[in-house]
Amino acid sequence: MTESRRVSIRKLPTGVPGLDPVLGDGLPEYSFNLIAGAPGTGKTTLAHQILFANATPDRPALYFTVLGEPPLKMLRYQQQMSFFDSSKLDSVIRFINLSQEVMEKDLSKVLERIVRELEQYAPGLVVVDSFRTVVRTAASIETGEMGLQHFLQRLALYLTSWQATTFLVGEYVESEIRDNPVFTVADGIIWLYQSLERNSIVRKLQVMKMRGQASLPGLHTFRITEDGLQVFPRMLKRREEREVALTKALVSTGVAGLDEMTGGGVPAGMRSSWPALPARGRPCWARSSSSRECGGANPASSPSSRSIPRST
Ligand SMILES: Nc1ncnc2c1ncn2[C@@H]1O[C@H](COP(=O)(O)OP(=O)(O)O)[C@@H](O)[C@H]1O
Ligand SMILES: [Mg+2]
Repeated sequence: MTESRRVSIRKLPTGVPGLDPVLGDGLPEYSFNLIAGAPGTGKTTLAHQILFANATPDRPALYFTVLGEPPLKMLRYQQQMSFFDSSKLDSVIRFINLSQEVMEKDLSKVLERIVRELEQYAPGLVVVDSFRTVVRTAASIETGEMGLQHFLQRLALYLTSWQATTFLVGEYVESEIRDNPVFTVADGIIWLYQSLERNSIVRKLQVMKMRGQASLPGLHTFRITEDGLQVFPRMLKRREEREVALTKALVSTGVAGLDEMTGGGVPAGMRSSWPALPARGRPCWARSSSSRECGGANPASSPSSRSIPRST
């Protein structure tokens, strides 16, 4: 496919410092993402941070919860976060409580309500938060685990097909990745972890999947403060960057005119390879350790190095 015919997908910045480079330059617009992890790992905070950074009148957001509390009460902790902008509440971000539908123990009603709200509000961003855990305790009593799995698959397929950037937040376990179809249809999977090391909580995240872009593999440390999440990417330098770094410092060859021909001398690390050349071909300083023999200029003992500007 030629360059001009390539489809370019818009990327949304997450609003989380350090996360965009880990994802591979933000979140693809209209992607369907899973935010997974144990309770307390920061899933809800991450979802809120993404919504507050991206919701606008042109791209309104819907946030579905199943907690039996009014949204403002539920948000009382989140309101302390610096990214929380209460002027966006009910104007560009709407919180919808599905506890009533869940209590009726009819999952098809829950799905109907979600679809109705999406069609009515036409959001550009949708979050369904920690559905599974709460639903499991209520509705699945009636429908069984299979009913719940089927419901979540239908919900995931619906969110995938909706013209919006969507997030399903849940307390999953890693063994489900292989055989839960929700993971197969997801465009992106962000997994949050926490562990207790000595007396502090160490938080890490991993982008398990991000379709269409190169995310940074492995675990990346993050912290949660009153500013929300902040990620410290474990940067893997590309090969070319490593090579540029290796050849950064040039050392004069000590041979008239050769420095100019080689663009400023030889890379500092290569100086040791000179002795391998036949004596006649070696510059003066490579043959002799005496600066006097070299007309007083022995770059081996006083290298005149300079840095090449990094290529961009
Ligand atoms: N101001 C803060 N400073 C440090 N940590 C905080 C702050 N506010 C919340 N947290 C941490 O964030 C975690 C809650 O994150 P939350 O998004 O509710 O998790 P989850 O949705 O995965 O259960 C808590 O475990 C708490 O340790
Ligand atoms: Mg939560």
